[in-house]
Amino acid sequence: MNTLLFICLAVYSATAVSLKHVDNKYSRFIKYSDYDGVMHTVDLEEQLDTELLDDFFKNPDNNRYLLYTRNNPVVSQTLRLNNTNSITLSQFDARNPTVVIVHGWLNDQHTKLNIVLTDAFLRKSNVNVIVMEWRRLALSNYVTATAGVPAVGRRLGQFLEFLHSVTGAPFETMHIIGFSLGAHVVGNAGRELGGRVARITGLDPAGPLWNLNSNRLRASDAIYVEAMHTDGGVLGLGIGSAVADADFFPNGGTSQPGCLTSLCHHDRAWQLFASSVTYNHFLGRECSNMLQVSLNNCRGQILNMGNDDLSKKGSGLYRLNTQRSYPY
Ligand SMILES: *[C@@H]1O[C@H](CO)[C@@H](O)[C@H](O)[C@H]1NC(C)=O
Repeated sequence: MNTLLFICLAVYSATAVSLKHVDNKYSRFIKYSDYDGVMHTVDLEEQLDTELLDDFFKNPDNNRYLLYTRNNPVVSQTLRLNNTNSITLSQFDARNPTVVIVHGWLNDQHTKLNIVLTDAFLRKSNVNVIVMEWRRLALSNYVTATAGVPAVGRRLGQFLEFLHSVTGAPFETMHIIGFSLGAHVVGNAGRELGGRVARITGLDPAGPLWNLNSNRLRASDAIYVEAMHTDGGVLGLGIGSAVADADFFPNGGTSQPGCLTSLCHHDRAWQLFASSVTYNHFLGRECSNMLQVSLNNCRGQILNMGNDDLSKKGSGLYRLNTQRSYPY
């Protein structure tokens, strides 16, 4: 069966039972299929776990900052907010750019995107990679995790401010990258720093509960904000609409070649990004509107999607087409 048709049928039949609209786009229950085709349900009206939220924010060490450099590419060193020694005694080198990677819902330190992106960046150039883990909250229900995103992000911003004050590392050499809910986390981190970091990259920023949410990632959160949309369909896990300075819609932004499940479309965002860090080979073509994006008839200027360029600039909607397997 045609892949897209299969997904549409699966999604529509599953959501036919939904009860109440809580968003302009989604119903109460979001169904998505994982890599094995098993369907999962996200209940957008699940009980908010305020106890966990309170507890999470009492201890700033619940956000963990794991440093990897070319001197320690495999075993991380833990940096701590307001703990000067944790930074000065580490391999952090303020002369090198700093890349921060923030995972999404249901992920933790060991999630594959952290490993793949860390590896891509360290192979490419001599940088500090900081993987931020917010596991305890990310493993809670979606409603609770979403509610905690602004505070998690602000804490990351405070940590980067502290890192800057201890080491002198300039904000203009920082690139913060977030996947799914993590894209909104890094938006809030950038906002806490007054939009001074060089660059934010949002990888398929989460859609459910974020369409009308004023805390979502936006263009003013860094000097340059880029978003990549890979699962932005009507009931996709990604937001699917422009939120950044430059918004890229690989293969139209709603489904990806070689993918049969929504999780696969969604995860393709970080896979494409990792590949772009290594090869910088994705040429986006500017589009005048979303119809052009969908119809694949964009005629505007070229802007490369992704990559590790700290002085990247650009704005608008971009479309490109990729292959089905690495390096896409
Ligand atoms: C970190 O230190 C600053 C300045 O001393 C203080 O204002 C802030 O509350 C501290 N943050 C945490 C989470 O302890």
